[in-house]
Amino acid sequence: MALVNENFLKLPGNYLFSEVAKKVAAFKTAHPDADIIRLGIGDVTRPLPPASIEAMHRAVDELSRSETFRGYGPEQGYDFLIESILRHDYATRGISLSPSEVFVSDGAKSDTGNIGDILGQDNTIGVTDPVYPVYIDSNVMAGRTGDLVNGKWSNVTYMPCTAENGFIPALPEKRVDVIYLCYPNNPTGTTLTRTELKKWVDYALANEAIIMYDAAYEAYISEEDVPHSIYEIKGAKKVAIEFRSFSKTAGFTGVRCGYTIVPKEVMAVTESGERVPLNHLWNRRQCTKFNGTSYITQRGAEAIYTSEGRQQIQETIRYYMENARIMRQGLQAAGFQVYGGVNAPYIWLKTPEGTTSWQFFDRLLHEVHIVGTPGVGFGPSGEGYFRLTAFGQREDTLRAMERIARW
Ligand code: MLT
Repeated sequence: MALVNENFLKLPGNYLFSEVAKKVAAFKTAHPDADIIRLGIGDVTRPLPPASIEAMHRAVDELSRSETFRGYGPEQGYDFLIESILRHDYATRGISLSPSEVFVSDGAKSDTGNIGDILGQDNTIGVTDPVYPVYIDSNVMAGRTGDLVNGKWSNVTYMPCTAENGFIPALPEKRVDVIYLCYPNNPTGTTLTRTELKKWVDYALANEAIIMYDAAYEAYISEEDVPHSIYEIKGAKKVAIEFRSFSKTAGFTGVRCGYTIVPKEVMAVTESGERVPLNHLWNRRQCTKFNGTSYITQRGAEAIYTSEGRQQIQETIRYYMENARIMRQGLQAAGFQVYGGVNAPYIWLKTPEGTTSWQFFDRLLHEVHIVGTPGVGFGPSGEGYFRLTAFGQREDTLRAMERIARW
């Protein structure tokens, strides 16, 4: 009989958001008339920008004629999108990258989950805690994390981010090879300043570590001193891989498109000491396992860089950030300690004294019919916290705050 990858058997229960969905479905079955407001998974609710819709319609028309039909595209993405990315997301910030350092994909979740394919099994991993579960779970699947003891994997270094340290992770005491950072942060909605991010780049340079920098929420940054890209920090091109997504920027959670930057200078080493550029390996991995993002999708993504597209996505971002403001204000007025929601569409709140994250989840669902995400689902330091998303409809956001005010 074929053997299974036993690492998968180590994964606890369901993926976090599937677990939440399962509990909500059970509640709905028991209470079919309950008017549930879903502020759990960070899924967008505003429609796609008209500029993308029009571009995608045009792309469909092109595919309908034999003279303009296209089949397989380049695995790394079409030049038209890569050039727009380089011009608008990087050159405007003084960052120079070459087209062959950009890999268009179906999103940051896939790329942050798959990037481990090109790394050795014995690497040590460091994560901020709480953390987006994909970074941990994908390393569990690869067999890098050891065993789960009291909610922590034995071979993972956890860097707690709590109200006590202002949600700023301390550099690990024990050296790690690979560090996952997500800023603006999912789930806490907090950020690092340039000076704080520089500490991590300097650490990686000094320790020959690699930073996996997930910047999926970059478009939500409103404060000056918050870097939009890790490559704004000197030396980062030697040590960092950056992940970006159109999901939260342009409503592409269902359409699927993102990209990953693997600078040519980022190296890892073989057991015999030979230095190998990761750009080449990621290209090889993608060419083998990925056939590119659809032409229609990439035309839709390109359109967000036009002047109308840029205006339209800014309008949507303002809408969600107004939700965030309403939520921060409403929750604070109701007596909660609230974090995030200024440079990110997530609100991270402290649960009432003596109430665990899952107890709070149950109470919120059963008593006021609101769904959120329990902080502990993102890691042990998330215990006692709870995440709400600002991606809801305005109506729902307002109604949720009214229910909490009356609660
Ligand atoms: C979340 O709720 O954290 C997001 O949906 C994560 C994701 O983008 O996969």
